[in-house]
Amino acid sequence: PAPFHEQVDDPRRRDFINIAAVAWIGVGGAVTVLPLLNQMNPSADVLAQSTTEIDLSKIVPGQAIKTSFRKQPLFVRNLTPKEIAEADAVDVKTLRDPQTLAQRTKEGHKNWLITLGVCTHLGCVPLGAGEGEIKGPFGGYFCPCHGSAYDTAARIRKGPAPTNLHVPDYTFSSDTTVVVG
Ligand code: FES
Repeated sequence: PAPFHEQVDDPRRRDFINIAAVAWIGVGGAVTVLPLLNQMNPSADVLAQSTTEIDLSKIVPGQAIKTSFRKQPLFVRNLTPKEIAEADAVDVKTLRDPQTLAQRTKEGHKNWLITLGVCTHLGCVPLGAGEGEIKGPFGGYFCPCHGSAYDTAARIRKGPAPTNLHVPDYTFSSDTTVVVG
C-alpha cells in the first residue's frame, strides 16, 4: 500500500477522514452536553411537586424581594397605595401586553404582586426596588441586559421584552403566607 501521507492526499480518503473526525467530535460533544442539559431540565414530576412558601410579614412595602422557585428567581412585592394608584391609572389599551393590575393579582390582594424575576426578552434577572433601588423609568423593574423597563405591575413598558413578567400560580394559605407553585 501507498505510504500514509499519500493515502491522506487522496481526496476521497481525506473526505472520509474529515467526516469521521467531525462525527467523533459530535458524539463526544453530545456525550458531554446531554447529561448537563438533563440536569438543567428537571422532570415534570419534580416541577409539579415543587412549591415555595413565602412569609409576607417580612416584606417591606414598595420593595421587591427575590426568592427562588423551581430554581428561578421570584419577585414578591408589596405595592404601596401610591403604586397601586399609578398602576391603575395606566390605560391598558396603550400597553404592549395589556393587563390591569387586578388581572395580575389575586382578588382582594391587589397590593401583592408576585412574578418570576426573569426578563421576557432573553431571560436576564431584572432589578427591582429593594435591590440597589434601581427601578427604571416606570417605577417597577429594569433589566440591565438590554434596557427593558417594567412598571409597578411588572408590565412591559419599554425595551425589547415582548411580554409582562410572568405571574406564577400561587395561593394565600393565610393573610401573611403565600404558597407559590
Ligand atoms: Fe432583559 Fe434583554 S434580557 S432586556
